[in-house]
Formats: sequence, C-alpha cells, structure tokens
Amino acid sequence: MSDHGRLMDGTYRWQRHIYDITRKYYLLGRDGLIADLAPPSGGSVLEIGCGTGRNLIAVGKAWPHARLYGVDISQAMLDTAQISVERVGMACRVRLARGDAVDFDPQALFGRATFDRVFISYALSMIPDWEAALQQAALCVAPGGRLEVVDFGQQEGLPGAWRAVLFGWLARFHVTPRPGLAAAVQRLAHSVGGEPSCHSMYRSYAIRGSIAWTEH
Ligand SMILES: C[S@@+](CC[C@H](N)C(=O)[O-])C[C@H]1O[C@@H](n2cnc3c(N)ncnc32)[C@H](O)[C@@H]1O
Repeated sequence: MSDHGRLMDGTYRWQRHIYDITRKYYLLGRDGLIADLAPPSGGSVLEIGCGTGRNLIAVGKAWPHARLYGVDISQAMLDTAQISVERVGMACRVRLARGDAVDFDPQALFGRATFDRVFISYALSMIPDWEAALQQAALCVAPGGRLEVVDFGQQEGLPGAWRAVLFGWLARFHVTPRPGLAAAVQRLAHSVGGEPSCHSMYRSYAIRGSIAWTEH
C-alpha cells in the first residue's frame, strides 16, 4: 500500500471507533446529497472514499433497490464499514474494496466499469491529487448517470477567525479544503460533455458539486 494509504490507516486506526458520532455534527450536507441521489430502480451507486460505510448505509435505506459499492484506501476504515453493513443486514447489497481514488479499476474490484451514481463525500479534501480523483470518478459514471461531490467550502461567509481555527484544526487530520473545487468541477464537466452544477451551503461552510451526463 502507498504512503498515503498508510497515513490514512494511521489517522483512522482509533478515530474510526468514534468517527460516525463525532462527524455527524460537522460533515454537513451529506444527507442532502444522499436524498438527491435518486438512482434508477435496481441501479448502482459507488462511493469513493466510503470510510465507515455510514453514507452507503444511509443510501441503502433511502434507496432500497440500489446496489451499493464502496472503495477506500484505508483497510481500517473498510473493516469498520464491513462490520457496520453486516450489523444492519446490508451485507448482501454492499460491496467494499480497497483502492486509491486516483487509480483504481472498478472492473477488477467489483466486476463492473461504471455506476449510475458516483459520489465523493468529504474525501477530496484528504486526497493529495484530488483533481485526478475527480477525473477518475467521472470515468466511473454510466451514460445518463451523475457524479456528486460534497466537501468543506472556503468559509467566505463566516468570520475570518472561524476559518483560521477550522482550517488549523482540520490540518491536524490531514484535511485541506480545496479552493479550486467548483472550478475543477466546471472544467471537468466541459471536458467530458456533462452538465455541471455547484453551490455553497451554510454560508460556504460546505460546497456541493455535480456533473450530470445525458444518455448516449
Ligand atoms: C473524512 S473521511 C469521509 C468518509 C465518508 N465519505 C464520509 O462522508 O463520512 C475521508 C475518507 O477518504 C479516504 N481516503 C483518503 N484518501 C483516499 C484515497 N486516495 N483513495 C481512497 N480513499 C481515500 C479515507 O481513508 C477516509 O475513509
């Protein structure tokens, strides 16, 4: 495994046990993204950087006919995710695999190259080459599908001191909010012929971006 994989395993070795309860209060916008996914009946949903499986379980409850896939670079997180999906009785609907967001082969990991919905939730801010991860995610979207992203915004609508404290604290967990995220989504949409959409939420605490493809 890469240095980054080892770093993520180290970061989450203990954190994963308190991850879901603590992140509930500050990883904002995840449930809105999940509510908007609306995969086709029997469709497939891939989360890149799926962590503890919290989101995939929520997707499974919101969209009971979807087939679910998760990839993460941290085996520690995947171990927790596997226990969680088994606990809620979703093991037969959720497939998890270890992979690097910038360079994974969904065909080799899951036996399929594309998915109706692909999403990345608060992982781009932890991936050094996050633009490559966005491009890789776009390659995984099926015709007529959609890529959805949620992550930290630049906090422009909040006091400067808040931004300094938040960014300093996030850096301790190897998290860097990406100032160019909206522009990167727009650029990528142009290059792949998709329809982009981006908006800030909660006074730019968080940002949502998406690219929709028409059927071709
Ligand atoms: C802040 S957590 C977010 C987890 C989950 N998506 C959520 O919203 O709760 C970031 C996750 O991204 C994973 N990650 C970081 N870099 C990655 C990479 N290069 N490839 C795949 N996963 C990565 C970490 O291991 C971690 O599980």
